[in-house]
Amino acid sequence: MCGIFAVVNDTTNQAAQTTLAGLKKLEYRGYDSWGIALIPLGSKTVKLEKHVGKIGQAVTRLPKGSIAIGHTRWATHGGVTDKNAHPHLDCKKQIAVIHNGIVENYQEIKSYLKRRGHVFKSETDTEVIAHLIEEKSKTKPITQAVFETFNSLIGSNAIGILDSKTESIIACRNGSPLVVGVGDNQFFLGSDVPAFLNSTNKVHFLHDGEAVVLNKNGVKLYDVDSGKEKKLDIQSLDWEMEDAEKGGYPHFLLKEIYEQKDTIAKIASLNSFEIIKISQLIRKKNKVVLTGCGSASYCALAGKYFFAQSGIESQVYPANEIMPFLNFIDEKTLFITISQSGETADTLIAAKAAKRNGAIIVAVVNARGSTLERMADIVLQVGAGPEIAVVSTKAFTAQLATLYLLTKAAEEKLDEGEQKIKKLAVELKNWLKPTLIKHLIKVAKSLIDREHIYLIGKHLNYPASLEFALKIKETSYLHAEPFAAGELKHGVITLIQKGTPCFVLASADEAKDEVLSSAAQLKARGGRIIGIAPFVSQEFDEVIKTPELGELTIFPNIIVGQLLGYYLGLGRGADPDKPRNLAKSVTVK
Ligand code: G6P
Repeated sequence: MCGIFAVVNDTTNQAAQTTLAGLKKLEYRGYDSWGIALIPLGSKTVKLEKHVGKIGQAVTRLPKGSIAIGHTRWATHGGVTDKNAHPHLDCKKQIAVIHNGIVENYQEIKSYLKRRGHVFKSETDTEVIAHLIEEKSKTKPITQAVFETFNSLIGSNAIGILDSKTESIIACRNGSPLVVGVGDNQFFLGSDVPAFLNSTNKVHFLHDGEAVVLNKNGVKLYDVDSGKEKKLDIQSLDWEMEDAEKGGYPHFLLKEIYEQKDTIAKIASLNSFEIIKISQLIRKKNKVVLTGCGSASYCALAGKYFFAQSGIESQVYPANEIMPFLNFIDEKTLFITISQSGETADTLIAAKAAKRNGAIIVAVVNARGSTLERMADIVLQVGAGPEIAVVSTKAFTAQLATLYLLTKAAEEKLDEGEQKIKKLAVELKNWLKPTLIKHLIKVAKSLIDREHIYLIGKHLNYPASLEFALKIKETSYLHAEPFAAGELKHGVITLIQKGTPCFVLASADEAKDEVLSSAAQLKARGGRIIGIAPFVSQEFDEVIKTPELGELTIFPNIIVGQLLGYYLGLGRGADPDKPRNLAKSVTVK
């Protein structure tokens, strides 16, 4: 949610272009507006360019310069207007600010600054930061003014400041992600690594309470509270630029859906040490609680079914609904948090609360260097690589495969689990072929003008149908409502009329007969029954066949939803990589 980028000592003197390219890589974090602030060569005044809308093919008309900051916005305070777009300036146009987060006490700060004569141009909370720094820098050095300002902000925030006087960038973090990239003589700041991955893979992930100062001499790290200098912890990431490029695909979403055959295969050989350690804790009679938001919460629910199959009881709470149940989380709890980004505010709040209660925190995460990863006692890195499309696909299946292995390890059958995951990856490769895509496009075309579709699933296919429906809604804006098959007859069936599209997710499992009888009930009311299953049935009007993989059949069943969402979205004029109103990483409550 909101993307931050900065470059110092741009070797081409094209800092504005470098910033624009970085912002394009961060656009998944917000696409209401974008903006860049630059110090032109030989000047001491900041130049600004800001526009409402997606960056897409945008170009910048800013002049040459070697230092710039940029921002891509997901609006919270103040409407989607050019004026509210970041960066924001102080009165003298010497300080420009970009910001990710919410300044909860901005009204108070704004009133104080207005009384001191500051004039505001936007409705945002962010603008107070520029003016407060200006006010404080009247009597103290800029770094101290920035640190003091940052310490007075309430809320989860990351800020980047361009100071034209010292030609430096100062950035601070508390709760929202920030990473520094150290290149050959040029330095970067980003909300995420892909923003500068084409220039460097050497990074320092900022911790909460840390600040950096970047200028042409290099990068210095500080503790924001004490102002004392600290040692940078530079890591070299094994990410390739291709991981953050479309690689010939028209959209990141499609690329990431296809990548799953490889990302899932990789899971079989990741995390064995940690998985065994966690499984031992589970066997020592620790309570298992799973949590997450959005797709991650459906992953948690599917995990609950996998745990049950392995004979282990677990609880699932969506992270944003966990508070009433906190009393049940204690030092005997293994608290498994699932998050692609590791930065989702609701998930972090839940993890912090569980940690306070003494629980052991396990993080099942994809992005690197996240807050959740750092807070966790045990980390299961799912290694799906950068997931750029807002809608989660490969990170979700990598997390689900990881949970599956964990449940198999708890049953002392990790080897068997790994073999099954390897087989799943091979089967996906054989199945994801042009004939399948042709079929899916045909089904998508037949649904393009529908208002509603319904889905049913039972047992493992119930969380699968929740995730399937979410993919359709996020990617195509078509109302897709999933139900547990058994719920149908208790009310939902009133919604079914002649021709209503009904998807039935099924596997060849113990729930098969019951789900088919629910399908028969839908059919009897005139529904158009589309089976997603590894078998044909007379209850299906048509079937999208998936490979027979036992309990792992839910993987291809869900992938059908990802692909259908993609093609439906294209047909309905949505942007598959950047659905309206959504942000990939929701760092506010
Ligand atoms: C946002 C995204 C969802 C995602 C959820 C959790 O709402 O739009 O697609 O599932 O956050 O994100 P996380 O990074 O915690 O998995």
